[in-house]
Amino acid sequence: MDNFQLSEVFTPATPAKLTFVDRLKVNDRIVRALKMPGKQIVVYGYSGSGKTTLIENKLFQVYEKHIRTNCMKNMTFDQVVLDAFDQLGGFYCDKIVDGAKNKVDASLQAAYLGIKSSIAVSSEASSSQEQKRILPPQLTPQSLARFMGAAGYCWILEDFHKMSDEHKESLAQMMKVFMDISHEFNDLKIVAIGAVNTAREIVRADKEMKRRISEIHVDLMSDDEILSIIKKGETLLNVHFDNEIKKEIIHYSNGLASICHSLCYILCDLDGIYQTVLGEPHLISDVIPAIEEYLNEESDTMKCALDKALKIKHAEDVIRVISSNGQDGMTFDTVLEKLNRIAIKHRDAKLQSILTELCGEESGSIIKFDNDSGRYSFSDPFLQSFARAFFEEKDNREGAGALTERELHALLNKAFAAIVANNKSLSAQFSGDLIGNKHDENKLKTHTEIESR
Ligand SMILES: Nc1ncnc2c1ncn2[C@@H]1O[C@H](COP(=O)(O)OP(=O)(O)O)[C@@H](O)[C@H]1O
Ligand SMILES: [Mg+2]
Repeated sequence: MDNFQLSEVFTPATPAKLTFVDRLKVNDRIVRALKMPGKQIVVYGYSGSGKTTLIENKLFQVYEKHIRTNCMKNMTFDQVVLDAFDQLGGFYCDKIVDGAKNKVDASLQAAYLGIKSSIAVSSEASSSQEQKRILPPQLTPQSLARFMGAAGYCWILEDFHKMSDEHKESLAQMMKVFMDISHEFNDLKIVAIGAVNTAREIVRADKEMKRRISEIHVDLMSDDEILSIIKKGETLLNVHFDNEIKKEIIHYSNGLASICHSLCYILCDLDGIYQTVLGEPHLISDVIPAIEEYLNEESDTMKCALDKALKIKHAEDVIRVISSNGQDGMTFDTVLEKLNRIAIKHRDAKLQSILTELCGEESGSIIKFDNDSGRYSFSDPFLQSFARAFFEEKDNREGAGALTERELHALLNKAFAAIVANNKSLSAQFSGDLIGNKHDENKLKTHTEIESR
């Protein structure tokens, strides 16, 4: 039996390799788009839906080489271009040293080195403490595309939604340049990975691009896909999670593979399993300590997300209404109706803008919208329990009026402590759920009945 380390099997913070499960809905489309000359790709979906992992695993089937730029907030378009340019140095500079195994076009290489030295000179000349590297005029999107195309690299742009609109627009223009130059170089390609709804922002800039860009939406995982991750991990480590535990992991993951990896990792870790078990499989049958551990690890992130969401104008009642329902969430009309029932009149447009903001990465994405069912729900069931506990604490507190920042944080802490302490009852409350019943009508009815009682 092969020996695997726990940290290479369950990977909550890095792209999965050993436990990678194929995403049947999008697999073929991605590979086809990667193989098609001139086709640029935009991959979008919720944070944690598996975009990076999918590209990482599929890219190597098609491309030998790629470079990756992680877009960050406040990054300018120029910085993005410079980042890619620098990474191509591995091809254009090292090739001099390693005796030119692959033929490098001499004039392109000379052009590359020329630009490289002019960047170095302008950085030296800059007297400011914080040296800003300036994009030399010769380093145009066209020249970058040629450098990349001749080197045979594919360019992955991670998290492009973090860039400002102005820079996104420039990025769209650059994609167009890449398309136009791709008839010279078959492999030239940009894969832009971003949050939900960002694809349209790129394509909107130019209608002609629509045809030549593959927009690929990565859904949250189905319960079966989550189950496959667990099963692959079990086999690799020779452990066995009993069926109840599997159901709980699936329930809490709620389509997010990262939660599944975290819980499985902690479950093994708490039982002292750090690598493949020899002999009989090791049985794991208690999930509660792992949930407690998970909550402790995530406490800062969760408090911060709820705190951010509560600061959105008029969002509190919307969060309250959605948290009162089951994990399946509710449609726009139901949210509106329930708000009206607690005597809060919201206009459609106003509610829509609050919901959109609650779904946005900027404000912690505590709510997600499912296109298929048309429902808004919490992105993470732990966050939902946390929100419920928060409102309970808030309603029980002495004195009325608006909360000060300090009171708000005290309440968040209290609510968090309550869900950690209650995780036993929390898990009992959910353990009735069965695998694969996310959209089960009966379950929805039960929730509504409980609700209206
Ligand atoms: N197809 C998959 N099979 C197994 N694990 C996956 C898969 N896709 C994602 N994961 C896991 O889910 C987590 C989030 O994936 P990631 O690719 O970073 O999502 P995104 O880029 O959409 O935010 C990671 O822990 C990763 O290991
Ligand atoms: Mg990612």
